[in-house]
Amino acid sequence: MTGTVLKIVILHIFIAVVNSAPIKDESLAEIIENNYTIDAKGNYVFSFKTTNDLIRYEEGIVVNSGEPNEHIEVYGYYSYINDAGEPVRVDYSATEEGYKIGDEQKDMTISALPQSVVASLVG
Ligand SMILES: *[C@@H]1O[C@H](CO)[C@@H](O)[C@H](O)[C@H]1NC(C)=O
Repeated sequence: MTGTVLKIVILHIFIAVVNSAPIKDESLAEIIENNYTIDAKGNYVFSFKTTNDLIRYEEGIVVNSGEPNEHIEVYGYYSYINDAGEPVRVDYSATEEGYKIGDEQKDMTISALPQSVVASLVG
């Protein structure tokens, strides 16, 4: 009898400890920053950041505006914190050369865009 009570007490302590551990429920993540701009030509930049440190950034640049071969080049990345607590970032691009994935664009910022594009985005 006493042994059973002790087991129940230990079980409850175990459950209490497990329940008090910080559980990162990704489904409860919320967007805490959200930016989006697009100009009349269709050049755009958007980004957002969530409470669970997910970041998404993408810019689209209209190439050969008004020409028959007009198209949008897309550059972007997403990043997140992996299970080991390390930040992981994946860069990608979609251009006439196809879809590419890799981290060679790590320092990509809006200042890397052609000045004409920056000017049109800033207004
Ligand atoms: C959104 O824009 C603000 C102001 O330019 C900037 O500080 C912030 O880092 C941006 N957020 C994201 C997720 O890019």
